[in-house]
Amino acid sequence: MYTKDLPFSAILKERKSLCGLNSTKETLHIVLDLKGEELSYKTGDSVAVIPVNDPRLVEKTLKAAGLTGEEKVIDKRSEITYPLKEAFRSRKSLTGFSKKFMSEVLAKAGAHQDDLKALMGEYEVWDLLEAYPEAKFSAQELYDLLMPLLPRFYSIASSELAYPNEIHLTVAYLKYETKDKERVGVCTHFLSILAPVGSEIPLYIQPSHGFTLTHEDQLPIIMIGPGTGVAPFRAFMQEREKKQATGKNWLFFGERTAASEYFYQEDWKRWEEKGLLKVTTAFSRDQEHKIYVQHRLQENAKEIASWIKEGAIIYVCGDKNHMAKDVESTLLEIIKDHLSNDPEAFLKELKAHGRYLKDVY
Ligand SMILES: Cc1cc2nc3c(=O)[nH]c(=O)nc-3n(C[C@H](O)[C@H](O)[C@H](O)COP(=O)(O)OP(=O)(O)OC[C@H]3O[C@@H](n4cnc5c(N)ncnc54)[C@H](O)[C@@H]3O)c2cc1C
Ligand SMILES: NC(=O)c1ccc[n+]([C@@H]2O[C@H](COP(=O)([O-])OP(=O)(O)OC[C@H]3O[C@@H](n4cnc5c(N)ncnc54)[C@H](OP(=O)(O)O)[C@@H]3O)[C@@H](O)[C@H]2O)c1
Repeated sequence: MYTKDLPFSAILKERKSLCGLNSTKETLHIVLDLKGEELSYKTGDSVAVIPVNDPRLVEKTLKAAGLTGEEKVIDKRSEITYPLKEAFRSRKSLTGFSKKFMSEVLAKAGAHQDDLKALMGEYEVWDLLEAYPEAKFSAQELYDLLMPLLPRFYSIASSELAYPNEIHLTVAYLKYETKDKERVGVCTHFLSILAPVGSEIPLYIQPSHGFTLTHEDQLPIIMIGPGTGVAPFRAFMQEREKKQATGKNWLFFGERTAASEYFYQEDWKRWEEKGLLKVTTAFSRDQEHKIYVQHRLQENAKEIASWIKEGAIIYVCGDKNHMAKDVESTLLEIIKDHLSNDPEAFLKELKAHGRYLKDVY
C-alpha cells in the first residue's frame, strides 16, 4: 500500500486544456502513466498528489526571512536533518499558515490585529514576513512554526477497465488575488505548470468510502457533476461501457459556457450516440440569468422521480459549499412534489440504502 511517506511514483504523460481559447478558467485533463505497475483503485476513488512548492516561492520566502536556505533544520518527529531550502521546497506550506504563526509574527513585531482570520486569508508566508520586517525567526523556528505541505486529492476520471495503465485527472488551476498579488494554488500550480511532462508525480490512492459505481449493472444512475465534479462520472461511464451494463445513465453537467467549458464533450456525445447516456447541461453564463444543474433537475422533476422509483442511484460530485447544498434542496423539492409527504425521511432512506451518494469538496 502506498502512503504519504511511501508514495507511488507515476509519470506525467500528457496535459491538455479542457477549455476553449476564450475560456475564463483553466481546467486541465492530466494523464498519469503507471509504468505497468499495479495501483489498485475503484471508480469514485481519488488520488492524493504530493506537490512541491515553486522554486520562486521558496526563494521569495527565504529572502523575506533573511535566510540563505543553506541552514540545517531538524524535523523533531523523524529526527531527520534537512537544508532549509529543501524543507521549504518539499515539506512546508509557504502559502497557508497557522494562527499560531500569525500570532508569533505579530508578537515579535510588537503589532496587534483584531481579526487574525481575515488577515491570514490575505497573506502568504513571504509577504507576511515582508509586512512585519521586525519579526525575525531562526531557520529552526520557522521550520517548527510553518505547517506541513499536505497532499491534495483529485477524483480519478478514468476506469481501470478502459485504461489499465493510466490514471486520468480533471484539474481546475486555482488562481485568485489578495493584497493586489496574483496567488496560485500549490498543487494545481504544480500539476498545471511546474511539473514537466515526463516528470514523476508522487501519489497514493485515497479511497472514496462508498462513492463508487454500483455493481448492480441493471440499476439506473443519475450523475450530478458540474465543473471538475464531472471527473468520476467519466470513469463510471467507461466502466459501464466496458461491462456492457444495461442500467440507464443520466448525466447533469454544468459549467460556464457551452463553447469553452464543455469538458469531455466528445466522450458524452459518443455515449449518447451509442444510446448509453442521457446528458442534460446547464451553462451558467450563456444567458443573462444563471442556469445551474439544480434548475435542470427541477425542469426534469417528473422523470427524475420516475428513475428514483425504478431504483436509481443518485451521485453528486463537486463544490461542497454551494452546489451540493442547492442540489440537495432541489432533490427534496422533487421528492416532496412527486414521491413522498416526508421528503427528509425519504432522502434519509435513500442515503441509508446507498442510493444518494456524495463526493463533495
Ligand atoms: C475528495 C476530493 C476530490 C477532489 N477532486 C478534485 C478534482 O477532481 N479536481 C480538482 O481540481 N480539485 C479536486 N479537489 C480539490 C483539490 O483537492 C484541491 O483542494 C484544489 O485543487 C486546490 O488545491 P491547491 O493546492 O491548488 O490550492 P491550495 O494551495 O490548497 O489553495 C487553496 C486555498 O486557497 C485559498 N483561496 C482559494 N480561493 C481563494 C480566493 N478567491 N480568495 C482568497 N483565498 C482563496 C483558500 O484558503 C483555499 O483553502 C478535490 C478535493 C477532495 C477533498
Ligand atoms: N472561492 C471561489 O470563488 C471559487 C471559484 C471557483 C471555484 N471554486 C472552487 O473550486 C473548486 C473547483 O471548481 P470547478 O472548476 O470544479 O467549478 P465550479 O466553480 O464549481 O463551477 C462549475 C459550474 O457550477 C456553477 N455554480 C456556481 N454556483 C453554483 C451553485 N450554487 N449550484 C450549482 N452550480 C453552481 C458555476 O457557475 P458560475 O461560476 O457561473 O456561477 C459553473 O457553471 C470547487 O470546489 C469550487 O468550490 C471556488
